[in-house]
Amino acid sequence: MVPPSKIVIVGGGVIGTSLSYFLAKEHGISCTLIDPKGIAPGASSKAGGFLASHWRDGTDLEEMQRLGFDLHQEIANDLGASNIDYRRLTCSAVAIDESQTRKVQKPPSKKLESVEWVDRAVIGSATMGTDENIAQVHPRKLCEKMWQFAKEKQGSQLVKGKVNKVIFDTETNAVSKVCLENGSEIDADVFVVACGAWTHHALQSWFKEIDAISSLPPITGVKCHSMLVKPDDVFSQAVFFESDGYFGDADIEVYPRPDGDCYVNGFAGDEVIISEEPGEEEVEKDCIDQLRNAMDMTTTKLGGLIPHTTQACYWPETDDGLPLIGKLPQVPNAFIATGHSVWGILQGPITGKAVAELLVSGSSDCLDLKAFSPERFAD
Ligand SMILES: Cc1cc2nc3c(=O)[nH]c(=O)nc-3n(C[C@H](O)[C@H](O)[C@H](O)COP(=O)(O)OP(=O)(O)OC[C@H]3O[C@@H](n4cnc5c(N)ncnc54)[C@H](O)[C@@H]3O)c2cc1C
Ligand SMILES: *[C@@H]1O[C@H](CO)[C@@H](O)[C@H](O)[C@H]1NC(C)=O
Repeated sequence: MVPPSKIVIVGGGVIGTSLSYFLAKEHGISCTLIDPKGIAPGASSKAGGFLASHWRDGTDLEEMQRLGFDLHQEIANDLGASNIDYRRLTCSAVAIDESQTRKVQKPPSKKLESVEWVDRAVIGSATMGTDENIAQVHPRKLCEKMWQFAKEKQGSQLVKGKVNKVIFDTETNAVSKVCLENGSEIDADVFVVACGAWTHHALQSWFKEIDAISSLPPITGVKCHSMLVKPDDVFSQAVFFESDGYFGDADIEVYPRPDGDCYVNGFAGDEVIISEEPGEEEVEKDCIDQLRNAMDMTTTKLGGLIPHTTQACYWPETDDGLPLIGKLPQVPNAFIATGHSVWGILQGPITGKAVAELLVSGSSDCLDLKAFSPERFAD
C-alpha cells in the first residue's frame, strides 16, 4: 500500500490529535486537522482526565482500556509527565450519610484510613484502585502537546473552520474534497471523521446519499458540567461518592490534580442529539449549584470554596455502548473514530495509534478493532 499523503481529519479533540500524533511519530506522515474552534474546544479539554486500567475488564473494551492505560504512561515519558500533568494516584469509593453531618466533625476512624481528604459524614469507604492501575492526565494539555508534536515534527496543519460538506470522486466514490462553511475546499486522499458528539450531524449531512452511512444508529451526546476549585492542600486521591440520594438524584466524582486544583463533576444529563455548537456549550447555573452543594457536603477542605472555572461538555454515546472505529461503508477512503463515551481521554491515544496503522497499512496491529467496526450495524 502506498502511504496516503493528504490525510484530512475533522475534529480536533483527543481522537483527532492522538491520530495526528501517531501519524507523525510512528509513520512520519503529516495531516490537516480541521476544527471550528482550534485544538480541543469541547469534551477533550473539559474532561476529568481520570484513567483506570482495569475498570472495563471482562467486556469488549478490556484490551483497549488496558493498552490505552499503558500507552498514556509511554506518552507521559515521551512528552514529559509534568507538561501534561500526568501522574499516578489512588482512588476510593466513599459513602456519605446525611445523619452523620450533624454530628461533631472528627477525623475518619481507623477502618476508614483509606480516605485521604473527605472528612464529613463518611460512613464507609472502599479502595477502587492504587497507583498501579489509576492515573490522570490534564486532557487539554495532552491534546495540545500531541498536536504540537505533529505540527513541529511533520508540519501538520490546523485549519480553523466548520466542515459542511464533502465532494466525492464520480468514478471511485472516494471523498476528494472537504468543504468549509466559508466556501473554501481542501483536497483529501484520506478522510477521517472524529467529531465526538457532533458526529451524528456529520454523517447525516455529508453522507446523506449513502444509505449505509446515513442510516447508522444515531450518535448521541450526554451533557455534563464540571468545575475546578483550589483548596489549600494538594490531594492525591480521586473519590467517587455514594450519597444514596443525599446529594440529589446523582453523585459526584472529585479528581484532585497535581497543580492543586480539584476537578468536580457529576449529575450528567440525558442522551440527546446534540444541538449546541462546539465550544459554545452553555454552563447552566442550576447544574453548577448542584455540584457546589454536593461538594460542600464532602469535606471541610472544599466546603464553601468558589470555583475558579465552571464548564460543560458532551461525551459521545453509541447505540451499543462501544466506540465506532474503522472504515465507513461504501466510500473507499473514509474512516470514523468516535463514540468513546466516558473513557475517551483514556482510550483516545490507543485509538489514534490503531487508526494511524489502519490508514497506513490497511490494518491495525496494536489493537483488534473488529468489535468497533461500523459494519456491526449492517443488516
Ligand atoms: C464532564 C466530562 C468528564 C469526562 N471525564 C473523563 C475522564 O475522566 N476520563 C476519560 O477517559 N474520559 C472522560 N470523558 C470523556 C471524554 O472527554 C470524551 O470521550 C472525549 O473527549 C471525546 O473525544 P472526541 O475527540 O471524540 O470528541 P471532542 O473532544 O468532542 O472533539 C470533537 C471535535 O469535533 C469538532 N467538530 C464537530 N463538528 C465539526 C465540523 N462540522 N467541522 C469541524 N469540526 C467539527 C468539535 O469542534 C470538537 O472539537 C469526560 C467527558 C465529560 C463530558
Ligand atoms: C475560510 O477559512 C479558512 C480557514 O480558517 C481560511 O484559510 C480561508 O482563507 C477562508 N476562505 C475564505 C474564502 O474566506
